[in-house]
Amino acid sequence: MRVLVTGGAGFIGSHLCEKLLNSGESVVCLDNYYTGSRTKIEHLIGNKNFRLLEKDLTSPFDLRVKRIFNLACPASPPQYQKDAIYTIKTNTLAMINVLELARKNRARILQASTSEVYGNPLVHPQTEDYWGNVNPIGPRSCYDEGKRIAESLAYAYRLQHGVDVRIARIFNTYGPRMDVDDGRVVSNFIVQALKGEDITVFGDGSQTRSFCYISDMVAGLCLMMDAEGLAGPVNLGSTSEITVLDLAIKIKRMTGSSSRIKRHPLPEDDPTRRRPDIDLAKRKIGWWPKVDLDAGLRETIKYFEKRVR
Ligand SMILES: NC(=O)c1ccc[n+]([C@@H]2O[C@H](COP(=O)([O-])OP(=O)(O)OC[C@H]3O[C@@H](n4cnc5c(N)ncnc54)[C@H](O)[C@@H]3O)[C@@H](O)[C@H]2O)c1
Repeated sequence: MRVLVTGGAGFIGSHLCEKLLNSGESVVCLDNYYTGSRTKIEHLIGNKNFRLLEKDLTSPFDLRVKRIFNLACPASPPQYQKDAIYTIKTNTLAMINVLELARKNRARILQASTSEVYGNPLVHPQTEDYWGNVNPIGPRSCYDEGKRIAESLAYAYRLQHGVDVRIARIFNTYGPRMDVDDGRVVSNFIVQALKGEDITVFGDGSQTRSFCYISDMVAGLCLMMDAEGLAGPVNLGSTSEITVLDLAIKIKRMTGSSSRIKRHPLPEDDPTRRRPDIDLAKRKIGWWPKVDLDAGLRETIKYFEKRVR
């Protein structure tokens, strides 16, 4: 029986497929290449335990699987705002299709949720029992509210059909295989620094984020999937908080760039502080991030150097 990774040709999904194959699993990677691409999983094609399915999850489908990692959803703001209705459909119609598949197969399913369910949080750091502060009609709501209804759907399937769901609330994750034009802050700053362009900091840059390296995130997702009886939600992310301005300065220094740091207006509903409380993940699955920001950025910069220069 196989493990299905939806969104497997995306940034996190491609690393997850690779890790599962390395652990001896048989993997089906399903993607419609909305934001993902074949190049991210090209190196896995040919592996006898790897199958690639090009499919849009908003249409129902059937497959024999024992476990499902549901990652399919555009994740970067410019990408998920490009077609807000599509983003909502992926978190509702597609979510129901994937949960139906889990129900029919009696499969365990892990939903890749997000720190965005906390919106612009009034509680800091964010614990799983905080209900969030989300604008339902703002430019980010297709994603934030989409991910919230996806969590509700997962819980409804658990209660009504006994589906073994688990919800991972992923905080900012970065690393190799992000797209050059992905639009998230780490990749934006590195690409701008390497090209010698202005590094665009929104607002005064005092807003904070905490960044988790991809190998840590993928390890956390696998531990959550393997844990018995852990529905969650469970926060997964780094607890080292850094201001966006300090991140820009750090990346400028690490790339040896002559770029200028330039301020741009703060986008609407941009969260001011973001840091997870990961006590639950530590206690329940023995997980916490191991790769520090400098080490993770070094690897990510190396990756982008090949792409940009
Ligand atoms: N990267 C992060 O920092 C982060 C943070 C919080 C949550 N997440 C969640 O993790 C998951 C993966 O994020 P990512 O950073 O790898 O994003 P990504 O955009 O690189 O990957 C998403 C993948 O889903 C695919 N996809 C989108 N809609 C689809 C559909 N209808 N049918 C089939 N495939 C579809 C895309 O083509 C892409 O390959 C997402 O669900 C995202 O919301 C990511």
